[in-house]
Amino acid sequence: MIQANPHYSELSDTYLFVTIARKVEEFKKVNPDRPLIRMGIGDVVFPLAPSVARAFSEAALAMATPEGFRGYGPEQGYSELREAIARIDYRDKGVDVDPSEIFISDGSKCDVGHIQELFAPEIHVGIPDPVYPVYRDSNIMAGRKDFIHLIPATRQNGMVPLPPSEPLDLVYLCSPNNPTGAVLSRDQLASWVEYALRNKALLLFDAAYAAYIQDSELPRSIFEIPGARDCALEFRSLSKSAGFTGVRCAYTVVPKELRIASQDSTVRVWDLWNRRQSTLFNGVSWPVQAAALAVYSEQGQHETGSQVAAYLENARMLANFFRDRGYEVYGGDNAPYVWVYLGRDSWEAFDLFLNKAAVVVTPGSGFGDQGQGFVRFSAFQTPEKVQQAVDALKDLL
Ligand SMILES: Cc1ncc(COP(=O)(O)O)c(C=O)c1O
Repeated sequence: MIQANPHYSELSDTYLFVTIARKVEEFKKVNPDRPLIRMGIGDVVFPLAPSVARAFSEAALAMATPEGFRGYGPEQGYSELREAIARIDYRDKGVDVDPSEIFISDGSKCDVGHIQELFAPEIHVGIPDPVYPVYRDSNIMAGRKDFIHLIPATRQNGMVPLPPSEPLDLVYLCSPNNPTGAVLSRDQLASWVEYALRNKALLLFDAAYAAYIQDSELPRSIFEIPGARDCALEFRSLSKSAGFTGVRCAYTVVPKELRIASQDSTVRVWDLWNRRQSTLFNGVSWPVQAAALAVYSEQGQHETGSQVAAYLENARMLANFFRDRGYEVYGGDNAPYVWVYLGRDSWEAFDLFLNKAAVVVTPGSGFGDQGQGFVRFSAFQTPEKVQQAVDALKDLL
């Protein structure tokens, strides 16, 4: 009889957000008239920027004309989009990235999940704890459960995972971090680059929230660090920077010089990823890429930048609320997440906020054992709802 991949049974039972959804449904059954304030799942709420929606719909309508119709696109993505990304996200900021090193995709979740296919099964993988659960689950699915080394981000180290003494082969870094909102400083990131070069390791830098970094002292890209082109690749997404969670567009930057061991020689990661993507992925639709291109227009940058600024204002409001009450707070400055230490079981805190204030958060323990005692607030809400949440919590805390 056909056998299932045995590693799927090594995954934890339910995905975090499934449990949250169940608890919210139960609450709604008991309190049908009570409006909920959702600050749990990290999904955006503002509609698409007008210039982006216009480009999206114009491209879709053009597809219905003989001149405007497009079939399969270039596998790496349309060159105009890759050029705009290389210029605006990197070169204008003094970072050397060539358009040919950019691979357009339909989301960073897919990219960070699929990338591990390029590496040998028995490599040692470093994953921060707490962090975005996809890094861990994708490696468990691939049979690396016993090869995962958790790198703790704790109150003691200010939620910043630092290089361990042991040599690892592959390390995931997420900055600004989901869920803690912590951002790696230039020196901290440089210590990871130094570690990777010394150990011939590869760093996977997930910068899905790069747009939220406003402090010019903090690195938005790992390629701002000398040496990173020889030991790192970077993931970026338009999901949270331009409201693309439902539209779906992201990209991965793979430097041409990046090489890893392959039998007795070395191989370019660019060649491996190009082979993987051109074999198993057929690109992002033209209307979506046209919408993404509009994000990089002057108007698109202005409109999407205002949305990011509004989410950051929400984050500041939430962080200040907890700080004023004496709580330990991380994130919220250069990140859309506010990570609050409550010193009680995370699910107990979740239940309390839901049942007494109708506020939905995410229990920190859902992101790893080190998240126990914390909850994550997502700033992806309207300012009005954030104010309502703050008012509802005032009576509780
Ligand atoms: C750290 C991190 N990386 C990647 C993603 C996935 O982004 P996308 O919507 O592009 O798949 C998320 C989404 O929440 C995230 O938090």
